[in-house]
Amino acid sequence: MTGNANSHNGEVCIEVSGLWKIFGANAEQILSSEKRTATREAIQEETGCVVAVRDVSFNVHQGELFVIMGLSGSGKSTLIRCILRLVEPTAGKIIINGEDICSYKKNQLIKLRRNTIGMVFQHFGLFPHRNVIDNVAYGLKVRGVAKEERYARAREVIEKVGLKEWEDYFPDTLSGGMQQRVGIARALANDPDILLMDEPFSGLDPLIRRQMQDELVDMQAELQKTILFVTHDLDEALKLGSRIAIMRDGEIIQTGIPEEVVTTPIDDYVRDFVQDASPAKVLTAGSIMIEPDVIIYEWQGPKTALHLLRTAKKDHAPLVTRARKLLGLVTVKRLAELIEKKSAAIREAIEPDIPSCTPDMLMEDLFCLAVATEYPIPVIDDGGKLVGEVDNNTILSSMVQYREAETEEVKSKKVVAKVKAKVEPGKTEPKEPKTDA
Ligand SMILES: Nc1ncnc2c1ncn2[C@@H]1O[C@H](COP(=O)(O)OP(=O)(O)O)[C@@H](O)[C@H]1O
Ligand SMILES: [Mg+2]
Repeated sequence: MTGNANSHNGEVCIEVSGLWKIFGANAEQILSSEKRTATREAIQEETGCVVAVRDVSFNVHQGELFVIMGLSGSGKSTLIRCILRLVEPTAGKIIINGEDICSYKKNQLIKLRRNTIGMVFQHFGLFPHRNVIDNVAYGLKVRGVAKEERYARAREVIEKVGLKEWEDYFPDTLSGGMQQRVGIARALANDPDILLMDEPFSGLDPLIRRQMQDELVDMQAELQKTILFVTHDLDEALKLGSRIAIMRDGEIIQTGIPEEVVTTPIDDYVRDFVQDASPAKVLTAGSIMIEPDVIIYEWQGPKTALHLLRTAKKDHAPLVTRARKLLGLVTVKRLAELIEKKSAAIREAIEPDIPSCTPDMLMEDLFCLAVATEYPIPVIDDGGKLVGEVDNNTILSSMVQYREAETEEVKSKKVVAKVKAKVEPGKTEPKEPKTDA
């Protein structure tokens, strides 16, 4: 499952407000003068200072994978480094787990970096003269963890990132993807609450990169870390982010769940960013599903079912319990066979091996299901209740609508409203239970 399904109602873990970073001499003076509102270019021209982060505020909740996306030079690395105070903020507040880290003394900062926050960089930053296990165990050694214990812990995280049996290798004998796994294992070794990842997959080739993204999603689901992930790549942001913040010239100009960012870009900068977004990576089964034309209730029996299907000129329909739980898909052919056998056991008319999906399944995953079956795919909620269905036509027409919406802003809002319209459960429920048993 992708990060898109993540909710973010956990406690606030990272709270950034009014954060500024201006590189150069007398940066504070710029902030206390009217120059503060001038453009980045104007400030640089007049003072030689670079506004890297401008009045940024956002919250990240416990367990969330929050993505910061922006073009090169938009201030992403500076922002993420401020959170570890690897870069000193010029102004603003950074609260980590309820503590204002801007007032931290040196020893508190060391603890923060060793225990609370782990960081993964684009250029792995491994020790070339240490093998994998010593690279991973290094942070524990610094903390004074005994040799046996730190090796045991290092082995555990090395296995977690899929590098078991590579413990004795040196970094330069490993591929880029493997080196970054070491980087991730090293960050995980201290078991931090928070992981900061600055374009960790940017240097990897596309296949490896996709695999690493998938693994990160799985890892986060398992370990429940809070992750702040920086990327300049939209597909990566859409795939990973439970929320995405978009930066331009040091400012966060839009924050939202992936679907919001893609369907209602706040301005041309964001629109340019998202125009190549594939709807397959954004739209979910829940947002495109439709109400099935016919739903057969278990009590109805084969004859009624056949009648309903023939009247609706359909050759199949989902079969559900009284509580609308999905039992399977019944077909005219199988119903007719049952009636021939004089059987009333309607469950025997269920077509075997029909896949179903949940509302949060992404369209790109639906494609795979859709090509494997000639029938629509029932959409069921966590309780197994039928909430709608998706068929090839629905998928194609929602792709077309999505593309059209992109070219016309006004339209886009309508389509979002439309694709978001959910099926009202029970709408087609027959008034009186009939039975032909
Ligand atoms: N140490 C520094 N001194 C001066 N300017 C810097 C420094 N670090 C970054 N910058 C400038 O700050 C801006 C934002 O850079 P950065 O945070 O690296 O952006 P990103 O990570 O989005 O590419 C850029 O204009 C960059 O040149
Ligand atoms: Mg950067």
